[in-house]
Amino acid sequence: MTALASTTPPSRTVLASAHRPVATRHLTCVHDLAQHEVHGLLALAARIKRDPSAWSTAFRGMALALAFEKPSLRTRASFEVGFQLMGGSVVFMDQRDSPIGQREALSDWARSMERWFDALVVRTMSHGTVEALTAWSSIPVVNALSDLHHPCQAMADLLTLAERFGSPSTPHVAWVGDGNNVCHSLMEAIASVGGRLTVITPSGFAPSADIVRAVQARCMRTGASIRFTHDLEAVAGVNAVYTDTWISMGEADAEPKRAALRPYQVNAGLMAKAAPGAAFMHCLPAHRGEEATDDVIDAPTSVVFDQAENRMHVQCAILLALLRPDLVELPTTFVPGDFVA
Ligand code: CP
Ligand code: NVA
Repeated sequence: MTALASTTPPSRTVLASAHRPVATRHLTCVHDLAQHEVHGLLALAARIKRDPSAWSTAFRGMALALAFEKPSLRTRASFEVGFQLMGGSVVFMDQRDSPIGQREALSDWARSMERWFDALVVRTMSHGTVEALTAWSSIPVVNALSDLHHPCQAMADLLTLAERFGSPSTPHVAWVGDGNNVCHSLMEAIASVGGRLTVITPSGFAPSADIVRAVQARCMRTGASIRFTHDLEAVAGVNAVYTDTWISMGEADAEPKRAALRPYQVNAGLMAKAAPGAAFMHCLPAHRGEEATDDVIDAPTSVVFDQAENRMHVQCAILLALLRPDLVELPTTFVPGDFVA
């Protein structure tokens, strides 16, 4: 992403004459955001959550397209409701009729879409599709989950941690399970805010080495601490335990992977090793009885539905920053009071 512009966004008429985008900002992964922008978006999301009515006309006259190659409940609903509550129109593109880059070249799909819409929200099988769209689209492309990243989820997770602990960097979080797309984005998010994360995965299911390298570079700048282990004893004393499905959408279901992950189930025994009252986190959908047990998901310390709600607030903040920089100046710092839910 280029630096946030402070001018009125160009109209679609102007965009219609553009052949290739030059300075359009996109959100493909959390690391597209500068560290101060992550903080600023969290503070803005908290403001939106406190008083959504203040933004009820922000997207008036604008149209958002959602193009999803995989199923969704939370992501689709939160983008649709959030954008409409702020006065915009949303179209969900049926992938049987209008698939990204299958009925026609991806470049033609993207260059057609930008004539009608102000932003594209995409959920793709391959992260390469998100990147290809950013190369062709003169309107912002927001990654709503790819095989490698889920940045909107991670931003909602930071907001949830901030509400629960006063700041997103205060708690020590443990990721337990598959080193997948949600894990990658959580790593990037916690690295960005200078937080503390222990990633606990079975052997063979660690996060991508390339993403780990980029995350470690950001940790050097922010003072964040991210550690990697296969040892479940590393949940000792953590303030939050986060897990996700063993088999992600689009991935072949494989018994060897399930077998490797079974010991990493988040259950009462595992939660008992964490700090007293530790939060339980899950992006949902959960596979109850697999990666987490009912008692953990339904415990009073579970924040899974706060995470789901916060998707809408952070996504509205992201879209405001991308589409209405004339309305929002992102704060570069935040104070704990920002996050009182
Ligand atoms: N967490 C999440 O992205 O949920 P959906 O797959 O239901 O959108
Ligand atoms: N890792 C999961 C997250 C679902 C929101 C998947 O990609 O299917």
